[in-house]
Amino acid sequence: HRTVALLVAAGTGSRAGGDIPKQFRVVGGKAVIAHAVDALAAHEDIDAIHLVIGAGQEAQVRALLGGRVVAGMTQGADSRRGSVRAGLEAIAAAGGVDRVLIHDAARPFLPGAVVNRLLAALDDAQGAIPVLPVADTLVRGMGGAMGDGVARDDLFRVQTPQVFRFDTILAAHRGWDESREATDDAQIMKGWGHDVTLVAGDEGLEKLTYKQDFARAEARLASART
Ligand code: CTP
Ligand code: MG
Repeated sequence: HRTVALLVAAGTGSRAGGDIPKQFRVVGGKAVIAHAVDALAAHEDIDAIHLVIGAGQEAQVRALLGGRVVAGMTQGADSRRGSVRAGLEAIAAAGGVDRVLIHDAARPFLPGAVVNRLLAALDDAQGAIPVLPVADTLVRGMGGAMGDGVARDDLFRVQTPQVFRFDTILAAHRGWDESREATDDAQIMKGWGHDVTLVAGDEGLEKLTYKQDFARAEARLASART
């Protein structure tokens, strides 16, 4: 197999606030995007990393990466879906890839065990994604009043990386109706008619979304060092 990681880092991080996009901020002495690249590079089954970044960010990203090697950088789009599509097309143009892991740069702490589970599941499937159970009770909101409860035993929180057979996810993206939005690639794969396998995700893989997520990540890294 030739396996490429597609790391999407072209977002603006509007919910996190701050002066620079969240994936460029430093956590535990290292830029978030550098953490993500290191985690992917450390896995022996990942052959190359391809980055998707915003317009005009290449010099900034190269500086944050230091000497880390990536196979390519592609300019993203206004939506995450568009950014992934741009990266997939760039990888397709280079050719020779069987499997792709599509990963958010905003999830810097990726355990190798999750990648192992995903790639193992891909032996019998076209796609696999990491998920976590929902711990809290769920209810519907009815304009400020509590509506019915929602059974949570068959509900899961979806993480990345999401792994796919490369040709299949490329075809699914190319076939997607661009007027519809999709928050992740598994939805696009499913919409193309393929089942996607669920594997266990990891709490440490949570996305940095809001300002407070950075303080939590900082604290977790500090406690891991002692
Ligand atoms: N992303 C991207 N291109 C976009 C939007 C998002 O490459 N047009 C990437 C982000 O950089 C991030 C990942 O997709 O690594 C997950 O998206 P999200 O957490 O929503 O990041 P942002 O869109 O940057 O943040 P926000 O939605 O708060 O603005
Ligand atoms: Mg977003």
